[in-house]
Amino acid sequence: GDTAATLIAEINDLRRQRNAIILAHNYEYGEIQEIADYVGDSLGMAQAAARTNADVIVVCGVYFMAETAAILNPQRTVLIPDANAGCSLADSITVEQLRAWKAANPGAVVVSYVNTSAAVKAESDYCCTSGNAERVINAIPADKTILFLPDMFLGSYLRQKTGRPLKIWAGECHVHAAIRPDMIEQKRAAMPDAEFLIHPECGCVSSAMDYLASGAIDRRGTHILSTEGMIAHVNRSSASRFVVATEIGVLHRMCKANPNKQFVPIDDSISCRYMKLITLEKVRNSLRDLREPVTVPPEIAARARVAIERMLAL
Ligand code: 13P
Ligand code: SF4
Repeated sequence: GDTAATLIAEINDLRRQRNAIILAHNYEYGEIQEIADYVGDSLGMAQAAARTNADVIVVCGVYFMAETAAILNPQRTVLIPDANAGCSLADSITVEQLRAWKAANPGAVVVSYVNTSAAVKAESDYCCTSGNAERVINAIPADKTILFLPDMFLGSYLRQKTGRPLKIWAGECHVHAAIRPDMIEQKRAAMPDAEFLIHPECGCVSSAMDYLASGAIDRRGTHILSTEGMIAHVNRSSASRFVVATEIGVLHRMCKANPNKQFVPIDDSISCRYMKLITLEKVRNSLRDLREPVTVPPEIAARARVAIERMLAL
């Protein structure tokens, strides 16, 4: 087969020829992050997609991220190197289920996490990511009922953070739901000097919030953050060791920018098989053959765009 160096050279040639930009999520393999023009969280990827002038956008991430890029760029070609890169969280609510939930709660404001299909976004008032969810909820008038979907752990975190009585859909990400309180407790006992970075989609997020509210002396070393929030935090923290409770791909940028700090994944098994479907070979094929194009029907895109743009405006 082709060596990594050959593939990278081909990708660079094709990127120029196609006037393409490559966006990668923080959970991608390090070698994918290395060839990307932009690496970040879901919010950063949407912002990068919104401001590009490239003709072709290659989304190294999961399908809803490519749909978001397509919604924001109806005139550009949006490609995903493997169309099977789905998301168990986005799959936890269908548009039919959302319509029924709205019908049971007339007048409610619907806030959808970005990990949703374009059709679900089209039925939503606001989109949000883990990086701006609090800001989005605080911007909604206090007398409104809010339906938050689809992640129940992020939802319960937001309910506690904002004090708003959110109605929460019972969805979860199988990768983050597997991060349980006992995993954190074990690492805390083994590494009492470390700072703990916890993604709000984690199954341990409520116990982490209880810990933050407790009198524990080292509670200041526990932080609940989005992936981009984690990276910004480790770059400025004076701690020398961090336990990272999210998908392992996020360690790549942390280690690269902080060679003298130690980063410990909460568990080596915390890996998203969908994110890891994207390989150098598939990125090369994607640029070479313009595969797989991702499009969103115009009437769904128009309504979903309103929810995404409301988020980007905040
Ligand atoms: P963020 O990168 O927005 O923190 O999202 C995490 C995630 O699971 C994306 O799929
Ligand atoms: Fe979806 Fe979870 Fe994978 Fe993120 S880590 S893409 S939420 S399945």
